[in-house]
Amino acid sequence: MTSAPHDGLWQAVHDRSTVYHFKSDPLPDGTIDQLIEAATWAPNHRLTEPWRFLVVEGESKQALAELRGELARRRAEQEGRGLDRVAAQVAEFSEPPAYLYVVQQLSGDEVRREEDYAACAIAAYIVQLTAHALGIGARWGTGLMAKDPEVYRFLGLSEEQRIVCFLGLGYERPTDQRARSRRPPSELTRRLGALPGR
Ligand SMILES: Cc1cc2nc3c(=O)[nH]c(=O)nc-3n(C[C@H](O)[C@H](O)[C@H](O)COP(=O)(O)O)c2cc1C
Repeated sequence: MTSAPHDGLWQAVHDRSTVYHFKSDPLPDGTIDQLIEAATWAPNHRLTEPWRFLVVEGESKQALAELRGELARRRAEQEGRGLDRVAAQVAEFSEPPAYLYVVQQLSGDEVRREEDYAACAIAAYIVQLTAHALGIGARWGTGLMAKDPEVYRFLGLSEEQRIVCFLGLGYERPTDQRARSRRPPSELTRRLGALPGR
């Protein structure tokens, strides 16, 4: 991509990357509120503001990590696998000092539900991007901890709500750099312009 080196937005978009390992240091007071406020400026059709946010920290985060272990244990048993990875999964889940769950209010209308989901995903990305700008790492999580009914119960969510993702937030604990790459736009884009014969 050709872009001027002073282009701050491009730098942020390009340099943000998923953080996989976190220091235990807490985030400064008010930081998560700032991230949530940024997220609320995401575009959303008909101004439904379909997002809700849940901040999970401290003892609640630890209890959620234990639930992570319990669910992983159950799944391993159901699938006849050993429990050797469970402790590592709990440790990994415990790493970020805070989680921000992004939750969608589910509309009864199918089209609106789809649009609201898109809006919530944009909101989650804004959290990631803003965190990056503040020197804070973020990791987007889905899977078991965004799906299991016990997680919904733990978080006090209703059937009219859907977890879009949970964002682990914290300061990065540097490890070996992952190579990141994307396919070039020319491979992904088809252009329609002037029509032949007109
Ligand atoms: C919808 C969605 C779901 C994701 N789920 C997970 C996940 O469950 N676990 C995880 O480690 N990363 C998850 N990610 C992060 C992606 O794996 C990550 O964005 C991808 O590897 C590209 O890396 P980058 O974010 O550094 O550009 C998810 C991202 C998105 C957008």
